[in-house]
Amino acid sequence: MIEFSKEAKAKADQIIGRYPQGKQKSAMLPLLHLAQSEFDGWLSPEVMDYVASLMAVKPIEVYEVATFYSMFNTKPVGKCLLEVCQTSSCWLRGSNEIVDHIRRKLNIEVGETSADGMFTLKTVECLGSCGTAPMLQCGADFHENLTVEKVDALIDELKNKKERSSYLKSLVLNS
Ligand code: FES
Repeated sequence: MIEFSKEAKAKADQIIGRYPQGKQKSAMLPLLHLAQSEFDGWLSPEVMDYVASLMAVKPIEVYEVATFYSMFNTKPVGKCLLEVCQTSSCWLRGSNEIVDHIRRKLNIEVGETSADGMFTLKTVECLGSCGTAPMLQCGADFHENLTVEKVDALIDELKNKKERSSYLKSLVLNS
């Protein structure tokens, strides 16, 4: 059976403790982010069942949330998850060309992972950075005003990345 590390379990208990008895389900989003960060960047059924057990809710309640939001991955992803915005502003400013460039460069389709396990390409809806379109998110970092040259430089930089991309550092887990 899977379990959080000691540190992550302490963080999970702290998050759950913010809510009154019977309202632990309110901790679901930060717990799923914590779990995704802890378990290789994705939420397997086993991980979702574990999160459900921590909140004392039915697994289906976790599955519903995890499959609704694009920031949660329900299948394995590469170390660097490239999430390219495809909504109006980004589309008008060439996000399709950015996606095509990444597809060709990494030899993958949208939703696939590169052969070396480093990169997964995903298209997502508006990430709230419309004024700096086109943009993509990798973990907690936004990369904006993209050009193919900037994408090439970013991928080269990410190739040496030691840590898996994660949203965790942008979350307020300590409040
Ligand atoms: S349209 Fe791309 S960030 Fe809003």
